[in-house]
Amino acid sequence: MVELELSDTEFKSFRDLIAERAGIYFEPSKQDLLRTNLLQRMEDCGLSNFADYFQLLSSPAGTKEFDHLLNLIIIPETYFFRDQAQFDAFEHSIIPEILKSESDSGSSLRIWSAGCSTGEEPYTIALLVAAGMGSVKYPSVHILATDVSSVALEAARRGVYGPRSVRDVPKEYLNRFFSKKKDKYHLDESIKKMVEFSYFNLMTEPYPLLEMSGWDIIFCRNVTIYFQHESTKKVIHNFYQSLRPGGYLFAGYSESLRYLSDEFTTVQVGGTFVYKKEPRGKSPKRKVRRTRRKRGRQRTPASGRSRRLEVLSDQRVDETQQICTRAKELLELGKPEQAGDLLAPYLKKSTASESVLLLQAEIFLNQGNLEKAVQLCERIINYEPLSVAGYYLLGLVYRTWKKEGKAIEEFKRVLYLNSEHALARFNLGDLYSEVGKRDEARIEYANVVRLLKEVPESFDERLAGGFSPTLLIDTCLSRIKELSESG
Ligand SMILES: C[S@@+](CC[C@H](N)C(=O)[O-])C[C@H]1O[C@@H](n2cnc3c(N)ncnc32)[C@H](O)[C@@H]1O
Repeated sequence: MVELELSDTEFKSFRDLIAERAGIYFEPSKQDLLRTNLLQRMEDCGLSNFADYFQLLSSPAGTKEFDHLLNLIIIPETYFFRDQAQFDAFEHSIIPEILKSESDSGSSLRIWSAGCSTGEEPYTIALLVAAGMGSVKYPSVHILATDVSSVALEAARRGVYGPRSVRDVPKEYLNRFFSKKKDKYHLDESIKKMVEFSYFNLMTEPYPLLEMSGWDIIFCRNVTIYFQHESTKKVIHNFYQSLRPGGYLFAGYSESLRYLSDEFTTVQVGGTFVYKKEPRGKSPKRKVRRTRRKRGRQRTPASGRSRRLEVLSDQRVDETQQICTRAKELLELGKPEQAGDLLAPYLKKSTASESVLLLQAEIFLNQGNLEKAVQLCERIINYEPLSVAGYYLLGLVYRTWKKEGKAIEEFKRVLYLNSEHALARFNLGDLYSEVGKRDEARIEYANVVRLLKEVPESFDERLAGGFSPTLLIDTCLSRIKELSESG
């Protein structure tokens, strides 16, 4: 392979082209990885400089070449029954609800697996359907599975898998629906026939109405984790449009819709979240089973520390606290605009309290206004260098922005000030896992389990992305298991 430097300008041109066409966004830390992929494709095309290759990709004749490049850069990691809690929710809660609501219409059940990779996800759905899901009676079922990688789709259609892919398939399913030849597991034709595979790029807009609407359930898991915030927002909105009223979206376990969409109702089912498009006339809300908070005074992580910001009379403190409590309620109800309106008069004052500024930063984060959220967090930290809540929020903003390195730095700062901050450790666990630091991730998840054995008074479900302490513990345990099994 030729040795060629990829300049920063060239890197940005390729990065933006790929992000625009396929959503996948290369962070600066991945510049070298992109360079290697480009060089490999250039060699196959007989090209010796990046400018010529960029021109080829941008030309009308470059569509096919873009597909080849995509096949190199996508991460197809997947396996059967990935994230068991979601399939439990699918089987025991969502499907019965949908079948009940459709029992009179007699229409078929329509499920779309978007970003299906090599097929394990849609086939898991098909296996559950085929096994009859207990005693439930099925109408006809249509499962569509789409991906942007032609190589992954080809493998999906073959339906032949290695031991890693089937490691979580329950024994009875393995015996009933697979035949083992040498070290490969061949999926039964009856299951393969249930899934229709097709090429579809989630960045293509508008989604074709005829094929891509009226879905009962959409699975899109671990696909947009490589997208930028704005692209993910667009995709989620398109899913909303594509679902029928009353339908559900399953997102990956680290892909909360919290800062991406206020169109869906968040429903906690067992150990996971699903997102519902409410029937017409009903507005979205949060249906999260809550654990009881301990009685007593609610403390925020930063309370008692704001020396310079909060120089207020007792009366003003009371008033500010009331406003903050109401603004938090509005945020929990998914109404960031109204929360912002409420806080506005208190922000103008030069003595605006730390809690008001933190809430406003959270509102910016909620609205996807990430630059403003960073600016405000920095303002808080500038005034109050020991603001645990400020660093924590800044970490959340960078995480949402997909700036993993910066997010890790901020969460580490939180731990420097308060080593028992379970939420910072949870976020670090996720981030380490995303950047491939599996051992570090496992350690952080284990720390969360240890720390939450006794729930601190300051625990704030809102800042935990809606996770209750119990759900956080369950999630950490299942992620530790997943990391141990896959490594
Ligand atoms: C990590 S796999 C996830 C597979 C499966 N959903 C799961 O959770 O196990 C991500 C898949 O998303 C696909 N993908 C990435 N960008 C896409 C896009 N713009 N449109 C459709 N699929 C895309 C990739 O090709 C890859 O197969």
